[in-house]
Amino acid sequence: MKQIAQGAEAKVYENGDVIVKERFVKTYRHSVIDSNLRKSRTKREAKVLDRLKEKGFPVPKTLRVEGKDGILHMEKISGEKLRDVFDVEYSKYASEVGKLVARLHNEGIIHGDLTTSNMMVSEGEVFLIDFGLSFFSDKVEDKAVDLHLLRQAIESKHHTVYETAFAEVLKSYEENCENSKEVLKRFEIVESRGRNKAKY
Ligand SMILES: Nc1ncnc2c1ncn2[C@@H]1O[C@H](COP(=O)(O)OP(=O)(O)OP(=O)(O)O)[C@@H](O)[C@H]1O
Ligand SMILES: [Mg+2]
Repeated sequence: MKQIAQGAEAKVYENGDVIVKERFVKTYRHSVIDSNLRKSRTKREAKVLDRLKEKGFPVPKTLRVEGKDGILHMEKISGEKLRDVFDVEYSKYASEVGKLVARLHNEGIIHGDLTTSNMMVSEGEVFLIDFGLSFFSDKVEDKAVDLHLLRQAIESKHHTVYETAFAEVLKSYEENCENSKEVLKRFEIVESRGRNKAKY
């Protein structure tokens, strides 16, 4: 098995067509809390992926959850991280990203870590991955915060194309989200909270 990534929480291995995601021990957390947290995030990730797959979303198929702390085996998405192509090819993908986030929110699912590293492109199609921080919610506030995190991620990782690219994401979100008016109104409030904080 070849390790292909190490994030803040997990080591990701590739074994042929299978991806194995193993959350590692955080020694600064109490061991019982740490073990429970790893297990619950892995279970959550599998549950949300299963739900989304059922609905026909472009996400990896879960294969199995193994071990007492939860190691997730899932289908490998062959392709590249959206992060690696977005600067050059954002116009190809921005509206698809907005649409996917809107559809996700329409299903009452909040991703919790929307970044271009948690999206992949495979044969021109955008896939969502990394649902360890996701949760079920229909709250306007939760949807607005999800969009806020995505905006920040695009601003910091793709600053040269940020304004145009995020405007395209938002436009497509607006067209596809069931209660986009409310969410976008709240998004503006969440954004202004951030700006005010920065002043002090
Ligand atoms: N199903 C998959 N197919 C292909 N590559 C994947 C898949 N899952 C993860 N990866 C690769 O591994 C990287 C890290 O995976 P992921 O984002 O799930 O973990 P993480 O960021 O470490 O997790 P966390 O955010 O929970 O700390 C991804 O950015 C992607 O490059
Ligand atoms: Mg990730």
